[in-house]
Amino acid sequence: MHWTKCVKAAALATAAFAAFPAAAAEVSIFCSSAGAELELCQSASEAWAKETGNTVKINKMPANWGEALPLYQQLLAGKSGDVDVLTLDNIWVGTLASHLVDLRQKVPADEVSSHFESSLADATINGQLLAMPWFVDAGLMFYRKDLLEKYGKAEPKTWRELTETAKLIQDKERASGSPDMWGYVWQGRAYEGLTCDALEWVASYGGGTFISPEGEITANNPKAAEALDIARSWIGGISPEGVLNYDEEGSRGVFEAGNSVFHRNWSYVWGTTQADGSSLRGKVGVMALPVGAEGGKSSGCYGAGLLGVSKYADDVDAAVSLVRYLTGAKEQKRRALQAYSPTLKALYEDKDVLAANPSLQFAEKAYAESASRPSQVTGASYNRVSQRIFNGVHNVLSGKESADDALAKVASDLERLKARGW
Ligand code: GLC
Repeated sequence: MHWTKCVKAAALATAAFAAFPAAAAEVSIFCSSAGAELELCQSASEAWAKETGNTVKINKMPANWGEALPLYQQLLAGKSGDVDVLTLDNIWVGTLASHLVDLRQKVPADEVSSHFESSLADATINGQLLAMPWFVDAGLMFYRKDLLEKYGKAEPKTWRELTETAKLIQDKERASGSPDMWGYVWQGRAYEGLTCDALEWVASYGGGTFISPEGEITANNPKAAEALDIARSWIGGISPEGVLNYDEEGSRGVFEAGNSVFHRNWSYVWGTTQADGSSLRGKVGVMALPVGAEGGKSSGCYGAGLLGVSKYADDVDAAVSLVRYLTGAKEQKRRALQAYSPTLKALYEDKDVLAANPSLQFAEKAYAESASRPSQVTGASYNRVSQRIFNGVHNVLSGKESADDALAKVASDLERLKARGW
């Protein structure tokens, strides 16, 4: 393992410091670098190190999480000791399962059961608890409250209303001295984030989730095509061509520079837009994503962050101790004040948290109504499945294929993967 068995200075071994461990572990953790994540993860890990007498080594995950998975796979396949604790997306637990420590014997049962059952379900494969839940997330719509007020517009309820409001405000702002204004920025690059955005459009039109939770392939249907058609109409209209290459951070940059009316992202954007020094402070509203049609269901993509321990960690117990610290109540509360939604039920009744994080007021409902990617049913093949989906959708958005043709192709590719047992 990559942690130094650093023998503490001789003084620490004396009776006066008997409570101190004779040798301390260096635990290496991969922290996300999107938004405020790196600072939060690093400061908390360092606080744990100070409290326990261990040391911690921080590794930075790429801000685009999709790029982290191949890196993890490579390190874990080589049984590398460079990584002890991993920040995990909920869709990766199945893929990485064989490399992760089963935490059932390591974390007390009452601590485990203080998390939402749905979050524990993300972490559980074949009855093994392969990670601890850290935060939950769903796609949300951020918008310029000041601009909607300026033009007397209400929060749009449907995607069509959003398209109209975005266009109207974009055009008026451009005409009155803001030439760089766009109506709507989101994640259109061919990567995991586009699978999330597309799932939201399609599910909110009543077109399913590409693959049902039972494994039936539902991708090719008229409602899904209608949803992709409206998204295609945004390119070059209310969304810049560049959106075809935007990920979370790229699109957030445009919104936070003041150049878009609407912005789809995850809840962390509430924190970054309210932070000291943000030029959008006080100007941003947050709402559930629009629906396809009146009476439809808002379908924010479900996402979650978890922490897992590598089987190849030299000191599994020290790594587990760090995971328990980071996913525990004190740290989850600190993060919740910065807009990361906790997985601990009790924090949803905490007054400080509710005051600081308005999106939490509808978070439980948003999670209940969220749409899940088909990662459970496709297991270790989810990444391949998602690639088929985001490439097909990207072809529609960039005008290479019609929605009908692309969806038919995606569905037949998925049928082939399914026939091989995923
Ligand atoms: C966020 C979500 C994660 C999702 C990713 C897509 O990090 O938490 O679940 O896979 O975005 O880019």
